[in-house]
Amino acid sequence: MDKILVIGAAGQIGSELTLALRNIYGGENVFATDIKQAPQDIIESGPFQILDVMNEKNLIHFVIRNKITQIYHLAAVLSGNAEKLPLQSWEINMHGILNVLDIGREIGLKKIFWPSSIAIFGPTTPRVNTPQLTVMEPTTVYGISKLAGERWCEYYFRKYNLDVRSIRYPGLISYKTEAGGGTTDYAVEIFYDAVKTHSYECFLKEDARLPMMFMPDAIDSTIKLMEADAANLTIRSSYNLGGIDFDPKELAAEIKKHIPDFKITYAPDFRQKIAESWPASIDDSTAKKDWNCSYTYDLAKMTDVMLKETAKKLGK
Ligand code: SER
Repeated sequence: MDKILVIGAAGQIGSELTLALRNIYGGENVFATDIKQAPQDIIESGPFQILDVMNEKNLIHFVIRNKITQIYHLAAVLSGNAEKLPLQSWEINMHGILNVLDIGREIGLKKIFWPSSIAIFGPTTPRVNTPQLTVMEPTTVYGISKLAGERWCEYYFRKYNLDVRSIRYPGLISYKTEAGGGTTDYAVEIFYDAVKTHSYECFLKEDARLPMMFMPDAIDSTIKLMEADAANLTIRSSYNLGGIDFDPKELAAEIKKHIPDFKITYAPDFRQKIAESWPASIDDSTAKKDWNCSYTYDLAKMTDVMLKETAKKLGK
């Protein structure tokens, strides 16, 4: 039986992916770790331990002691926050993935998953229907670290035959654990403010179109990629994933259908520049061809569930 380690299990992706993996592999076989306390359902449904991916010695001991065969390494500093502390963020984002890859090589792990991002693209990339293979000149520390990480993933695959798999996630929208410090996170914050105050001040402009995905589609895609036959995978850097694309004005209009007096105002900050450097939509035909990726949620369906779940969470 596979033993899976999730690093960053208390984060936006980890808090949901850990539970999905436990449903498949059994609670006791999925080891959740983070540098902060995890949500109650993670603590109650299987092992959880505080663990810092930056501490290579502790990490390797953990992997050996628990006979880990797969690692999902999700911990990272996101785009907006990384701009405030560039060198520290580079260190955290790079050191973590390099530790995991090298442990994978040393121990002979079966599989590793690591998330990349649309942030690996930059202002010189074609913005509409951005191809899998294209110009990549990211201008954010987060994007530079994700692009470097992709190159290292492919390097370990080619050189050591390590089975590393990765997805370039679009902006991820979810209600369970709040996202922190990302450029796409306006599309999460807006739901909290819509429910609480029927208004939202957006840090991007009304026409800042970005690719986005509702968390259930991201979790399904991740599991699908990890379960795909290795022989079908032609990309060992990271797969483009499209999801849905919309701008703040369109999202606000969708929210208005449920909350008619909802008002959005715009006060773009430094993240507007980041958004302008990223794709507006993504071509994910390679992922569709290689492992049949597909999505369930469009803007209307996502908005409906987000509003209901956020209201429940806030007791409204
Ligand atoms: N959601 C991320 C961010 O905005 C992009 O990967 O930082």
